[in-house]
Amino acid sequence: TAGVADDRIEGLLEEFPDHPEPGVVFRDLSALYAQPGLLAGLAARVDEEFGGAYDRVLAVESRGFVLGAALAARTGTPLTLARKPGKLPGPVHSADYSLEYGMDRLELRKSAIAPGERVLCVDDVLATGGTLAAAAQLVRDSGAEVAGMAVVLELAGLGGRDRLSSHRLAALCEVP
Ligand code: PRP
Ligand code: ADE
Repeated sequence: TAGVADDRIEGLLEEFPDHPEPGVVFRDLSALYAQPGLLAGLAARVDEEFGGAYDRVLAVESRGFVLGAALAARTGTPLTLARKPGKLPGPVHSADYSLEYGMDRLELRKSAIAPGERVLCVDDVLATGGTLAAAAQLVRDSGAEVAGMAVVLELAGLGGRDRLSSHRLAALCEVP
């Protein structure tokens, strides 16, 4: 269909050594977001891996919001936002995690996800998997089930897929 071709994605990624800190090779997806076919490609990949076997999309702040919201709209699926600390009102589940560069926390309103729902966790990049592991923890804390995980880019050398091996994970593109 109109999805950006897998073999074109790698050429659109820009690498920035030592950003945001020494030792990290940052992959910037700006040129990929500018492709009108990005979302169609991700949606097709998600459909191939999961079909319609999820009840809700959980999008991770910040970059996951863009993709998760678009995917939810495209599939007519309810959307929930997992946020960085201190943003959400009322009682929240929270999960601390480390990522490729530093530590952070994700929060989710306790009333956001109903027990038993099947939730698809969406983000832009999978690096160490710390962020998506925290998102999965929030889903479980809600009494719900992780239907799977979807990202645009998997940085395969950082062990994220192994760390998340109890979940099905769809990536549109993978780099070593
Ligand atoms: C980036 C990216 C993922 C995460 C991946 O988010 O958007 O959420 O890192 O890394 P991990 O697999 O090692 O956890 P970042 O925390 O930089 O926040 P942002 O989306 O607000 O830029
Ligand atoms: N998120 C975590 N690690 C990253 C990286 N190397 N490039 C882009 N986003 C990231």
